[in-house]
Amino acid sequence: MPKNLNPLTIEEVAEECKNCKKCPLYLSRTRVVPGEGNAKSKVMFIGEAPGEEEDLKGKPFVGKAGQLLTKILQSVDIKREDIFITNMLKCRPPANRNPSKSEIETCLPYLETQIALINPKIIVTLGNVPTQYLLETTQGITKIRGQWFDWIGEIKIFPMFHPSYLLRNEATYPGSPKDLTWKDIITLKKAIDEL
Ligand code: URA
Ligand code: URA
Repeated sequence: MPKNLNPLTIEEVAEECKNCKKCPLYLSRTRVVPGEGNAKSKVMFIGEAPGEEEDLKGKPFVGKAGQLLTKILQSVDIKREDIFITNMLKCRPPANRNPSKSEIETCLPYLETQIALINPKIIVTLGNVPTQYLLETTQGITKIRGQWFDWIGEIKIFPMFHPSYLLRNEATYPGSPKDLTWKDIITLKKAIDEL
């Protein structure tokens, strides 16, 4: 595909990601992680960036956090293959440091193209990085998770805790991150069923 044409399919976006050298992360990556799932889904999940396992496998959310995400989804009968899962960054930052603003901005056209092609009704942002960037807010995830935000066009954003955060906060008392996530995934499932 000519480089100056916008990608027309999700596969073509992935292909462009695989050849990407727009930021220095290409030097340290093992594999690009463009994202995967149902390109016709009404629901997209957006994480932060690939971790070690994801970098090795080229797939999003396949490490410990990903396995927890899969369980959270399964608990309300959402199948990974029915949704589309991706990240703000398509390449792993060394030692899993936070993505820089410039990395996010350089990588953003890939995510924007994916969103435009999939045209979801609901975007679930996982954790502070995608939530604050897409909603252009400095409010923390603890304040704004579990709420619906009108975004571009008909798209609504539903922020949830990042599964890595839940791995670090195992408690399940009422109001704990895990307890709130349980409530959020039920809210999300209801909204999906009503689409
Ligand atoms: N954390 C993320 O934000 N994304 C992944 O793909 C894996 C872990
Ligand atoms: N910080 C994050 O980035 N995500 C969470 O879910 C919680 C704290």
